[in-house]
Amino acid sequence: MGKDKLKRFAEMEHFDNVFQPTMEEVKEGFRMKGKWLTDFFKNENPIVLELGCGRGEYTIGMAQRFPNKNFIGIDIKGSRIWRGAKTGVEDKMSNVAFVRSKIDFIEYLFAENEVSEIWLTFSDPQPKRPRKRLTSKLFVDRYRNIMTDNGIINIKTDSDLLFESTLEQIEEHNYNMKLSSWDVYGEMVLTCEEDLKDLMQIKTFYEQKWLEEGKKIKFAKFTI
Ligand SMILES: C[S@@+](CC[C@H](N)C(=O)[O-])C[C@H]1O[C@@H](n2cnc3c(N)ncnc32)[C@H](O)[C@@H]1O
Repeated sequence: MGKDKLKRFAEMEHFDNVFQPTMEEVKEGFRMKGKWLTDFFKNENPIVLELGCGRGEYTIGMAQRFPNKNFIGIDIKGSRIWRGAKTGVEDKMSNVAFVRSKIDFIEYLFAENEVSEIWLTFSDPQPKRPRKRLTSKLFVDRYRNIMTDNGIINIKTDSDLLFESTLEQIEEHNYNMKLSSWDVYGEMVLTCEEDLKDLMQIKTFYEQKWLEEGKKIKFAKFTI
């Protein structure tokens, strides 16, 4: 492992806003499950997740815009989470946390009704493993178990495959589509509400890469 990564891992051990449960801790009963509001955020505001958050651009960007909501970024890669977590610490943001974990264990991290909204930002399209896509039935059923009624799922992606598959899942399982666009920066930002237009200004590391390659960015918002 490179020196920089080691330094980041060591630094992250001291960040109050980062949780890195072991597999055993997760499966035996993660101490934060059902207690995020009382034990960490110490308020009653809604909790929003960014899954596969990478450097946490959406987690941080949304937390800055919405101080009356709580935001948690989840990713398995600690060296990426470090970037968002460090910003959260440096800027003394009390509505931000990060969890280093596989998203697959999400029901072990949150209790029923604990999460109001989910953002999937440039998730891996998993061309050969449809069940592993973060909008597959397998994952959406897990989200349902931790979300409030009418909880919202947002997906922003460069991938035609993932977007098409998401639209198919929405149709097949009768989820409620609220908004969808194959071209966020073409048609969508001209017509969508101001809050969403503003949120689309947040560009993640991967989004910037795909935009430079001329890819069209897609977005969908639905409830389950
Ligand atoms: C293509 S990157 C996108 C990162 C970031 N959202 C962005 O847009 O720059 C996908 C991220 O999802 C994470 N990831 C993929 N599958 C995961 C899983 N099952 N559990 C946790 N993280 C996962 C990867 O570690 C990676 O950081």
